[in-house]
Amino acid sequence: MTNKITINTDVEKGIINKNIYGHFSEHLGRCIYEGFWVGEDSSIPNTNGIRNDVVAALKEINVPVLRWPGGCFADEYHWKDGIGPREQRKRMVNTNWGGVVENNHFGTHEFMMLCEMLETEPYICGNVGSGTVQEMSEWVEYMTFDGESPMANWRKENGREKSWPLKYFGVGNENWGCGGNMRAEYYADLYRQYQTYVKNYGENKVYKIAGGANVDDYHWTEVLMREAGSLMDGLSVHYYTVPGDFWLGKGAALDPREEEWYATMKKALYIDELITKHGTIMDKYDPEKRVGMIIDEWGTWFDVEPGTNPGFLYQQNTIRDALVAGLHFHIFHDHNDRVQMANIAQTVNVLQAMILTEGEKMITTPTYHVFEMFKVHQDATKVDIQSTIGTYELNGEKLPSVSVSASKDSEGQLHISLCNLNPKEASDVKIELRGLVNQAEQVSGRILTADTLNAHNTFEQPENVKPTALTDVTLEANELSLTLPPMSVAVVTVK
Ligand code: AHR
Repeated sequence: MTNKITINTDVEKGIINKNIYGHFSEHLGRCIYEGFWVGEDSSIPNTNGIRNDVVAALKEINVPVLRWPGGCFADEYHWKDGIGPREQRKRMVNTNWGGVVENNHFGTHEFMMLCEMLETEPYICGNVGSGTVQEMSEWVEYMTFDGESPMANWRKENGREKSWPLKYFGVGNENWGCGGNMRAEYYADLYRQYQTYVKNYGENKVYKIAGGANVDDYHWTEVLMREAGSLMDGLSVHYYTVPGDFWLGKGAALDPREEEWYATMKKALYIDELITKHGTIMDKYDPEKRVGMIIDEWGTWFDVEPGTNPGFLYQQNTIRDALVAGLHFHIFHDHNDRVQMANIAQTVNVLQAMILTEGEKMITTPTYHVFEMFKVHQDATKVDIQSTIGTYELNGEKLPSVSVSASKDSEGQLHISLCNLNPKEASDVKIELRGLVNQAEQVSGRILTADTLNAHNTFEQPENVKPTALTDVTLEANELSLTLPPMSVAVVTVK
């Protein structure tokens, strides 16, 4: 069947917060070390220790916000270990991720420098699980206070005269699990206490994010909103797309079977239900939708690549990941009244990464290309869509075959993104454009697709999966017609 879509370009549905295109980078495996940080003496071209190729690639996708240092690592991180002369910094064990030595060479100053290079907002996650109130409070003072104080003076001694602007601060991570195995009731009280000492210095106004629920733990959201909702700006939710069983076998990133593909699409779409249900609870306590839902960990989680350190969470990235990314963005757009930020896990070499590195080599992944193609939606105005969509069926189960979202940018251009979930069949699409002041005159587009279900980029074939021009699209009297090839993500621009 032909999928019929109507876009009411004059019916505006709010702004798509650019922060839903945010990222997460943890001291885990080769994300921070090797991925970003190679050190000033490295033969890999770098600026003050941070690799140039990775920064250049990330600048192309406009990273709006970057979460650091964890993850589970955050609740065992003591920030004072990561400042001052590098050779004197404490060497510790990264107990969560492979038991490797953490030499603390990448600390607060290095992270802030990275954010400045990327022109991105830092989002720092503090330590509730094994840290003190004083330690958290002093970290914020160290980073953001410009006057005379022990922490501000210490920062200046360490070479940074001016404070850094810091908007986003997380009060713990996964405190139901690696962040302290707490009950919601206990964490809610700790959140109230810790956040009291996260101060606003001068002009700096901190947006405080409470550690949120795991997947469908609605009790956690209920308790946090009820007991501490008025003291937070954001509440997180974590959800990973795992085609198999998290503990018994997640599935391989390069699995070529359609069953795995289908399971992945179904699990990716499930985030819509999670956002709706967590959102309904938030609405009860916050009908004005002041508190943002912050999905600060999402993405695919597969078994690690054979032969790699199981604690490093290194996985390949295929056209299947590209579809997962596209579907998530469309769902985040649909909930733009509540979802204020999302951070994919993780930027380099870990889980659903944008970038993979091997020594001095670097490649971008299919997921990277979706971020690049979709950047037109950042801070754009979402517009209304009505649609009649066909189904993608396998073994008696059904999913919608096409997902679509559209926004208008500040110049009035309309950007329509589309995903064809079906890996076997093309989908014909007709899009009626209503509400335009003038007749649409120009259409252009790009498409990301592949011939096999596990198509991916390698260090030998870095451009195996990359966007190409979409030629199969026509515009006639405000109606667009196009054919989406199997397993594809497209962005069409209409002027
Ligand atoms: O992203 C990997 C891990 O997943 C994070 O450290 C943790 O917060 C989550 O369980």
